[in-house]
Amino acid sequence: TIKVIFDTDPGVDDAMALLFLHRAPQVEIVGVTTTFGNGRIDTTTWNALYLTERFGIDAPVASGPAAPLVGPAPPPTDFVHGANGLGDIPLPATLRRKADPRPAHRFIIDTVRAHPGEITIVAVGRMTNLALALREDPAIAGLVREIVIMGGAFGHNGFHGNVTPVAEANIHGDPLAADEVFGGIWRITVVGLDVTQRTQMTTDYLRALARDGGEAGRFIWDITRFYVAFHHAAGVADMFVHDSSAVAYLIDPSLFTTRRGSIRVVTDGIATGQTMLKPDEYNFPPGPWDDRPSHAVCIDVDTARLLSLYRDTITAA
Ligand code: BDR
Ligand code: CA
Repeated sequence: TIKVIFDTDPGVDDAMALLFLHRAPQVEIVGVTTTFGNGRIDTTTWNALYLTERFGIDAPVASGPAAPLVGPAPPPTDFVHGANGLGDIPLPATLRRKADPRPAHRFIIDTVRAHPGEITIVAVGRMTNLALALREDPAIAGLVREIVIMGGAFGHNGFHGNVTPVAEANIHGDPLAADEVFGGIWRITVVGLDVTQRTQMTTDYLRALARDGGEAGRFIWDITRFYVAFHHAAGVADMFVHDSSAVAYLIDPSLFTTRRGSIRVVTDGIATGQTMLKPDEYNFPPGPWDDRPSHAVCIDVDTARLLSLYRDTITAA
């Protein structure tokens, strides 16, 4: 099995991705670390504890900081995920589970060092925790098995940004963290809007999950009502599959076509949060993309097979 730390800001699509990981027989979730983003940090951490408790996911939850590496905590994207981050479904008043006492980045370092070469990090929120872990213990870059990131937009398939014309939310929420993470010599695959916005779940698809997917399927139906309404109001026909696409890459990389190169993130100015890929085979005059590690960026996806994989995993007996 693949040991996974899930770094996340639940978040409707984060919750769907967590259930995908939980039900995938190839995966063992060894920890959940939280970032601000779809809610404030207290909200996303509470939601992570709630989800692990409710679905019997036997993994510690460790909270990240409330704000990016630089600057104040940004407002949560509650207009996408609801005020409670889970589509405003009713939630219990109290939980039995408590967060791990360590900050998220410390949990990541400890877990990676306890299992050298074995830990995959699926990061689907702001990249603050990964950047802090790398700053505090740079040697972990060589000890992580792989990092799969949902974030960014590289202009393939016409997709450039979702919070600004050029910036995707997870990168825009902490651009400096993302730039530092992409500068690390760990093995990274990026699953950005280029592929996540190509894949959409229709209402019929979600209804079938609710019918055939037991408690998880009904829960997904409930939390996606608010999220689908947001998509419709934005003129999107169905519902994008962001964070679960990163999980799909982990389970079956053959669903994706990738391109390799170095990645930089714009950290200020009007293009802040923009991700730039300098393909390995291109030669530019010397610039800020030189002397950077090469990573893989997903540029195409087999949408039908991805949707089948998600459905089959959630509905498996
Ligand atoms: C990303 O931003 C968050 O709102 C989603 O959960 C996803 O991780 C999409 O841009
Ligand atoms: Ca997310």
